[in-house]
Amino acid sequence: MSRVALVTGGTRGIGAAISVALKNAGYRVAANYAGNDEKARAFHEATGVPVFKWDVSDYAACGEGIARIESEIGPVEILVNNAGITRDAMFHKMTPQQWHEVINTNLTGLFNMTHQVWTGMRDRSFGRIVNISSINGQKGQMGQVNYSAAKAGDLGFTKALAQEGAAKNITVNAICPGYIGTEMVLAVPEKVLNERIIPQIPVGRLGEPEEIARCVTFLASDDAGFITGSTLTANGGQFFA
Ligand code: CAA
Repeated sequence: MSRVALVTGGTRGIGAAISVALKNAGYRVAANYAGNDEKARAFHEATGVPVFKWDVSDYAACGEGIARIESEIGPVEILVNNAGITRDAMFHKMTPQQWHEVINTNLTGLFNMTHQVWTGMRDRSFGRIVNISSINGQKGQMGQVNYSAAKAGDLGFTKALAQEGAAKNITVNAICPGYIGTEMVLAVPEKVLNERIIPQIPVGRLGEPEEIARCVTFLASDDAGFITGSTLTANGGQFFA
């Protein structure tokens, strides 16, 4: 029986490409999403990937969602923590709510999800955790103190947990995408995107979601068993960590 992979935020943007790539690689995939029922339904109809709705910032909801997937599909052996949000604002204008929403989803979401599949992975002596961080967690980004802090936290989470998982054949890795052509990036004001961001990308274009999905497929594979605690950057040459 093929392995079960769970992708958070797996029905749109980079997450949708990851769900499809893992399905095409032969995994049984479940895609979580938080809010957009219409997009999730369309994604399910187009791909056949089952979709499950809950908010990764809610620990109890993560437990219920994972339990449902494990009873309907099977134990989660590959977890891709992809769900993420932006609440961009200059720091002097950032509200406590904008800070907490981003930290709760983009950082605490990793705890909420991973904590609830971890014991099963330890018991089965196999697991793959792939955390989608960001170039902006590595280099910082004006207008994103909340997001950069959360995404940098994801890298610390990855490196610490990798050490705990290694003896149990569980790898924990991070991918740092640069600017990828998704709704999240296209929400950046056009002038900022065209005049400030794209000129900083040496390959001269935004990345494609599938370019990140291929990184995930590799890190999720049995072939990647010697790679753990690593950060894979895919940013068109914009930043070298
Ligand atoms: N790089 C360089 N300069 C930037 C910038 C950026 N990313 N974002 C804003 N600036 C500049 C603006 O051009 C502007 O400069 P000028 O006054 O010289 O024109 C100045 O900073 C102030 O910007 P705004 O006038 O836009 O100020 P605002 O208060 O209206 O909005 C903002 C501030 C919400 C931060 C808005 O500028 C913005 O959304 N910027 C983009 C931030 C960004 O890069 N977010 C990444 C989202 S994609 C993502 O997060 C995915 C990922 O992992 C990569």
